This record gives sequence, structure tokens and C-alpha cells, in this order.
Amino acid sequence: MRPLVADIDLDALRHNYQLACRCAPQSRSVAVIKADGYGHGALACAQALEHLAPAFAVACIEEALTLRQGGITQPIILLEGIFSADELALVDTHGFWIAVHSQWQVDVLLAASPQAPIPVWLKVDSGMHRLGFAIDEAAAIWRQLDAAPSVASLHLMSHFASADSRDNSYFNQQMTRLQGLASELEAPLCLANSPATLAWPVAHGDWNRPGVMLYGSDPLEVANEITRQLQPVMTLRSEIIALRELEEGEPVGYSGRWRAPRRSRIAVVACGYGDGYDRHARDGTPVLVNGQRCAIAGKVSMDMLTVDVTDVPDAAIGSDVVLWGRASNGEVLSVDEVARYCDTISYTLLTGVLPRAPRRYHGRSA
Ligand SMILES: Cc1ncc(COP(=O)(O)O)c(C=O)c1O
Repeated sequence: MRPLVADIDLDALRHNYQLACRCAPQSRSVAVIKADGYGHGALACAQALEHLAPAFAVACIEEALTLRQGGITQPIILLEGIFSADELALVDTHGFWIAVHSQWQVDVLLAASPQAPIPVWLKVDSGMHRLGFAIDEAAAIWRQLDAAPSVASLHLMSHFASADSRDNSYFNQQMTRLQGLASELEAPLCLANSPATLAWPVAHGDWNRPGVMLYGSDPLEVANEITRQLQPVMTLRSEIIALRELEEGEPVGYSGRWRAPRRSRIAVVACGYGDGYDRHARDGTPVLVNGQRCAIAGKVSMDMLTVDVTDVPDAAIGSDVVLWGRASNGEVLSVDEVARYCDTISYTLLTGVLPRAPRRYHGRSA
């Protein structure tokens, strides 16, 4: 069997969730498990957090239905709300909560007579300029929804464009707009994503919405005491399937991008872009071979990648290779570091791991 696997540590997931809660003791934390739990398997993540998280957040009704059909009974919030009017019946049947960001969604809600009124998070655009009502139109919509029999409860929701940045000037602008609106409406808030949960207590609301930190990725531009406590949840792991000795100057892989600077030993690892590993990984991108840091040498292929193991004498066929996560000797290679070598972010690496790398669950509820 091909040795590539994504090991998922559910105890680490719970640890990270509890860290999010400790960062914001006055808030409830909805666990964001959209995009199949950032690639970790949404249902398994929800089951692992079932006794800790009071609610889950997903992007759309299909993701919410997967959780309900899997036996998850907590509230599930659709962060982008309904995508068509007919979805409101399913929201009603399954007791989902919805974000409302557009006038047509308001109209559907006002015209509806659900069996039970629906909890609503009114999304305002405080500066992200993606989804939501403009700050100056939000108060009128809030009052309309507040009076509607189809609405059970209302929260004010917004999303930050740069809460991860050391420069907090834009974050502060968004916060100022939101505070003005919230005090006018006396609205309970749901604002904080992972970076705001970790770094900006002023943004902590009735609810927070941590996502990527639950999976052990540090979203902040500058790590701090708290982010250093995050534990990797996914370990993408494979093995060496071939080894070769190269003379100085010999090239490796497509277009010979890497050339041996000395007599070198090259390991071929069963993992490639056909598994979701980023093809943009530069020469020098770290991997762990038998728990020891080594560097990618040559372009990533569809099913394989190549690593310089000249300085790892015990590297052999079958040796353990960690593309990111925790090696058996405890050494950690963070997905954030790998992402920097690929000119991307951890979110794309984690959500990009394809089903070809089977998920294997570990931890108390696995
Ligand atoms: C509306 C919304 N809230 C919360 C999150 C979670 O963000 P993060 O993963 O940065 O914590 C996201 C993620 O993209 C989002 O779109």
C-alpha cells in the first residue's frame, strides 16, 4: 500500500480548542469546521469537540447537513447563510442558524413562517468589503429583523481583514465602526476569527469564531506565548521509496531545477501535487526524515518529491518522512513554515490535501 497518510490528532484539536476558550473566557467559541474541517474531516472534528464546543460553523447547508446526518446535535451556523430561498425549509427542519448578509436573504426570512423562529447573525461589512451590509444601513435591517416573528435571536457579525497583522491600524478602524453600531443597537457580537481571538481581546464578543488555530496553525504575523502552545493536528506523513547517489553538478527532477552542490544522496518520497502537496515548494522547503530536518531538492512531481538526505546517514527505504506535523521523535515541522516556502498560507495546504492521502484518526474519540 502507498505509504502516504494524513494522521489527525484529535487530542491536539481539543487542546487547541481549549486554548481558544482560555484566550477569551468571557466568550463562547463556535468551532469553525468549514471546508471539511480545514481538510481534517469535519464530522470527525465535530465528534471530537462535541462535549466542548457549544456550536459549529460551516460555509453552506451541504456542509451542515453532513454534520447533522452524522449525528451532530449542536447548533450549526451557516456563515454565508442560504444560497437560495428553498434552503430556508432545510434550515428550519434541521434547526440551523444562519448569517444574513444580503437584502434578498432578509426578504426570504421576513416572508417565511418557520416551525420555530431561526437564530440569525446579521453580517455587517466593517471594512473587509466581501459580504455584509454597509455599517450605515445595518441598523435599519437589524430593527426589521428584530421585530420579525421568523427570527429567534439576533447577533451582529463581522469579519476582520487584517487581525493577523502586527500593524493594528486597519483592525482598529473596523473595531471603531463596529463599536459605534453595537452600542446603538445594544447588539451581542460575533467578530473574532483566530487571530483576533489570539491577539485582540477588544474584539472578543458574545461568540468568537476561531478556525485555523484549532488545527494548530499560528495565524499571527508574529508568534507569541499563546500561539507557541498550539499543537499540530494534521501530520502529513509518507516514506522514502527509493534512494540514489548523485555526483556534484547532476540535476534532479523536471527541468533539473536543483543541481547537486556536492556528492549527494537523494531520497524519493511518495507524496506529490496529485496528493495536494504544493507544487510551488521551493528547493530548501523543509521535511523531516526520521525526525531530522532535510530540504526538498528539485520540483515536486505528481506522485513524488525528492529530498536531499546527504546528512542523514540512517535514511533508508521505508524511513519515515513528515511533510508537516509531528515526527515520532517529537520533532515538529509547522505547516506555517512549509507554507512560507510555498508562498502560500497554511489554510491552502491543509484544505488542499486530497482524499488520495487517507485520514487516519488518533486520540481519545478516534
Ligand atoms: C466568516 C468567517 N469567520 C471565521 C473564520 C475563521 O477564520 P480563521 O480560520 O482565520 O480563524 C472564517 C474563515 O475564513 C470566516 O470566513
